[in-house]
Amino acid sequence: HGTSRINERGHLEIGGCDTVELARTYGTPLYVMDEALIRERCRAYMDAFRSTGLKFQVAYASKAFCTMAMCRLVAEEGLSLDVVSDGELYTALKAGYPPERIHFHGNNKTPVELEMALDAGIGCFVVDNFTELKMLNAMAGEKGKKAKILLRITPGVAAHTHDYISTGQTDSKFGFDLESGAAYDAAKQAIECEHLELLGLHSHIGSQIFEVEGFRMAVEKAANFAADLRDQLGILLSVVNVGGGFGIRYKEGDTPLPVERYVEAIAGAVKETFSMRDYPLPEVWIEPGRSIVGEAGTTLYTVGTFKEIPGVRKYIAVDGGMTDNPRPALYQSEYEAMLANRANEPAEEIVSIAGKACESGDMLIWDLHLPKARHGDILAVSCTGAYNYSMASNYNRIRRPAVVFVKDGKADLVVQRETYEHLVSLDLIPERMRGTIH
Ligand code: LLP
Repeated sequence: HGTSRINERGHLEIGGCDTVELARTYGTPLYVMDEALIRERCRAYMDAFRSTGLKFQVAYASKAFCTMAMCRLVAEEGLSLDVVSDGELYTALKAGYPPERIHFHGNNKTPVELEMALDAGIGCFVVDNFTELKMLNAMAGEKGKKAKILLRITPGVAAHTHDYISTGQTDSKFGFDLESGAAYDAAKQAIECEHLELLGLHSHIGSQIFEVEGFRMAVEKAANFAADLRDQLGILLSVVNVGGGFGIRYKEGDTPLPVERYVEAIAGAVKETFSMRDYPLPEVWIEPGRSIVGEAGTTLYTVGTFKEIPGVRKYIAVDGGMTDNPRPALYQSEYEAMLANRANEPAEEIVSIAGKACESGDMLIWDLHLPKARHGDILAVSCTGAYNYSMASNYNRIRRPAVVFVKDGKADLVVQRETYEHLVSLDLIPERMRGTIH
């Protein structure tokens, strides 16, 4: 997919760059991001929305992959940006992201985070709970500002996905519950808050979703709730944000819909359900993360050691693992991979790819068909662009990999590989431990 192909040397090439050369130049593990594919996905969402005739914003959910270069790319493509922490906000601002296009999410925004966002003049806060509502109103008041907000509602829609990444069901830590009346109370309080401007509603039903039905149901709930608020409180909302969660193809058998299909379904549902209640059509906002960057990422590893248990399994260990990709260990996620330096060779054996962390659960792929791998081969695991770098850790004091953007035969380093110095740079040795050790 994307710009990937096998070149005349039999090597995997991405963005016109030979991945074996990339591994040699930058070392492994290495995250390689296909810049053209990321841009193509951004444009697909923007174009699909343009053709709906609705006003819209597409906010890239930066939690999927957040670096300064990525923020700039997304800004160039005209998207908005969803941040969920002071760290993501800082990264975006530092990269020069236009603050009015930044939306701030999260179920426990701290006073420090709210202050930072108010001072920056971000476009919108997605308020999650009553504590935040009060705190934000008070803080905005102190600063003589009026903060634009959406209210996050839990629409009671459970997306069919892994438990940990499903969020729209009623028993969730996020948002104001519709059924119990909490959402109604929140709206009532919000319009009484002098320093808040209630723009509309937000919902997010989950992640890696392959159907449109959940989104349609969430839109319908939002439309009915908005109409009830109008009828009972006399307020009109101008924005409905349906969150992210659009699925991608990690492996054969995954059947995500094309971007256009999700957008058409959402826009169609908005037109239908809001018109049904004689409600002026709101702006539609979405927040894709995974579907912008997921398929654009490939992780390159060097094959190291082997262990064969005759008749049972052959393990091949690579120089990374759960520290750069915790998703298999966390969610039993499945990935596809190939030998980047022998991309034309037929599969000869079934192997399992182990990481190098001291933990049995550090397995990247079970039962992968590969040519007979040798020490020093380059293994390329595909679709690692989302929630890999952003969820990477230093477990076992393993250094986090570098990230390169590749495009038109050119590679740009956008995140440097961590050094040993980085690993100890925040460590301190108390005075009383600094004597000579015998
Ligand atoms: N908006 C909100 C409010 C979210 O909570 C999320 C993801 C998104 C948008 C973006 O969803 P996406 O389009 O990327 O599916 N670490 C997990 C995924 C957690 C998703 C959390 N929220 C994973 O690796 O699968």
